[in-house]
Amino acid sequence: MSALNQALRAALDARQTLLAELHTQGTDCYRLFHGSQEGAPGLTIDRYGAQLLVQSFHQPLERDALLELLETCQQAFATPLLPVYNDRSQGNSRIDRSDPVFQAGAEALADLVGHEWGLNYRVRARHAGQDPLLFLDLRNARGWVKRHSAGKSVLNLFAYTCGVGLCAAAGGARAVTNLDFAEGNLAVGRENASLNPELPAMRFIASDYFPAIRQLAGLPVARRHGQRLPDYPRLAAEQFDLVFLDPPAWARSAFGTVDLLRDYQSLLKPALLATAEGGTLVCCNNLARVELDEWRDQVLRCASKSGRPVREVEVLPPAADFPSSDGRHPLKTLILHL
Ligand SMILES: C[S@@+](CC[C@H](N)C(=O)[O-])C[C@H]1O[C@@H](n2cnc3c(N)ncnc32)[C@H](O)[C@@H]1O
Repeated sequence: MSALNQALRAALDARQTLLAELHTQGTDCYRLFHGSQEGAPGLTIDRYGAQLLVQSFHQPLERDALLELLETCQQAFATPLLPVYNDRSQGNSRIDRSDPVFQAGAEALADLVGHEWGLNYRVRARHAGQDPLLFLDLRNARGWVKRHSAGKSVLNLFAYTCGVGLCAAAGGARAVTNLDFAEGNLAVGRENASLNPELPAMRFIASDYFPAIRQLAGLPVARRHGQRLPDYPRLAAEQFDLVFLDPPAWARSAFGTVDLLRDYQSLLKPALLATAEGGTLVCCNNLARVELDEWRDQVLRCASKSGRPVREVEVLPPAADFPSSDGRHPLKTLILHL
């Protein structure tokens, strides 16, 4: 047996208890193999409902290696899964797509439904982004939101496909607002809402983060470098009981720069001001280079300086399908009780 297949078997063995728990919770989306942490840098294997998604980020998988991995995964599940292999090791992958082993069936590439915490999610194995519309390492944070939203007003910032908003609605929030500037991502969020018709309606705001959060926080929307700003939706100032802030590592728009390494504060400060007195702000930093302790200190300092000191802080690590030998998870999540 190849070393790679041995590593996969060890990863599947290590997950037996977790997978049983997840299936009981109504979750069939999770990571089965986590790259260098489990012995193969740049290789991930995820299950998204009926889909089995293999992705290589450093070098393409050889045909036989892929076949062996797929067979080992299939043996671990009673129901057959639909394999999709995405080689992302280069802009234009070198793998020979005329070989049926490297192709994916129409059924596997179709829009499917995955499940997490008993909710339905649209999953799509191949699209412009790198994940099939649901970031799996955020599962524990979504579960936390579901357990702590009852009766609250919830603001989901950088909402992407609105998984956090969906969990808030399922957890009994009295109002849920999802904010993202990408209409396409919010459209998937609306699809997710319609896949869970029993949930109350959510609000969707298509806007750049900076003008939106500043208006909600009651701050002026300032011109940048004296330049006229593009148009943006007008919003009334509003505070929320629970605010969720999970930005991308880096993004630039006409309104400002999202930069989790150099300037978390300019994202955090208005989000703190849009959180009600006695409310909770959950914030994330997915940049591997940022150390948890340093970032936590920065966050707590920013909260004090903004006049919103933190009464209590909790750290929420990802679940065991994202193992980390040194406990330094790229995705760091803090729960700030104000
Ligand atoms: C990494 S995803 C966030 C993941 C998300 N929080 C979740 O629950 O899965 C990044 C999102 O930020 C959005 N985004 C990036 N820059 C933005 C900006 N300046 N204003 C609003 N949304 C932005 C993107 O459209 C994308 O949906």
